[in-house]
Amino acid sequence: MVTNRTNLPLEDELGDVLEKAMHRAGLNDESLAVRSGVRAGRILDAIDYRSDLTVAELRRLAEVLGLNEVGLCALGTGQYPLPEIGALPFCVWPLHMLHGIGVANAYLVGECGSDRAVLFDTGAGIGDLEGAWPNSIRRLDAVFLTHIEAEHTGGLCEVIARFNVQTVFAPPGAEIACGHFIGEGEEKIFGPLAITAYATPGHAAAHNCYLVRAPVTKTGGMLLISGDLIFAGSAGGGYFSHTQLQLNLRRVLNAVPPTTVIAPGHGPLTTVANELRYNPFVS
Ligand SMILES: [Fe+2]
Repeated sequence: MVTNRTNLPLEDELGDVLEKAMHRAGLNDESLAVRSGVRAGRILDAIDYRSDLTVAELRRLAEVLGLNEVGLCALGTGQYPLPEIGALPFCVWPLHMLHGIGVANAYLVGECGSDRAVLFDTGAGIGDLEGAWPNSIRRLDAVFLTHIEAEHTGGLCEVIARFNVQTVFAPPGAEIACGHFIGEGEEKIFGPLAITAYATPGHAAAHNCYLVRAPVTKTGGMLLISGDLIFAGSAGGGYFSHTQLQLNLRRVLNAVPPTTVIAPGHGPLTTVANELRYNPFVS
């Protein structure tokens, strides 16, 4: 069971995707204009959220920037597809919290009907979490962190105190005052949940994704907590390494089943199959 707010907007619009792709390619509006034949002013308008780029222009930009043409055109025409989210063999509560002009997500995952869960990321503070917290969850078995940023881990100390959390897991190299590092391929078990870490530096030097399974239900689906590696229709900024972000994005999407539900650090839920097909950064 997944409680999803289906009207949540995409984290990134066309302009954001173009800007990230230009950074990745080391191009500015002028050099992109020369290579693509799209006027620099039209590129800047798109980055400023005033795009009226034609499909032909979007195709040329996608080619020069190494982006998925279908996905970029879908974004550019306001038609990026989001998939139906199927049933999972555990319960997932996305905790959507306003942050700046956007929304940051944390997630509770637990056995349906239980009052305990595992928390992935902690939002900016306990107040933000409380606004989205389900009444049924009263105990936390562990907290897993994808990466250290105020909007994702600012609430950590308050969560530890509130729920008397004994176990915090973070990516190796993360600057945390308490807890344990969990690296590539390591698995932790909490009740019916098996949680496996993928080391995914790129957005940050210390960044993990987590694959959540319920091994006893052999036919059940899986959940990928993707942090700021991948969003529906976009990817995180490659502030540590564009190259590593891109490599890890492809590696993780190809390592898990296509039916896997992606729970990103920003924006709505999606699936691996949807992003393999449409995500502009998967080309
Ligand atoms: Fe973020």
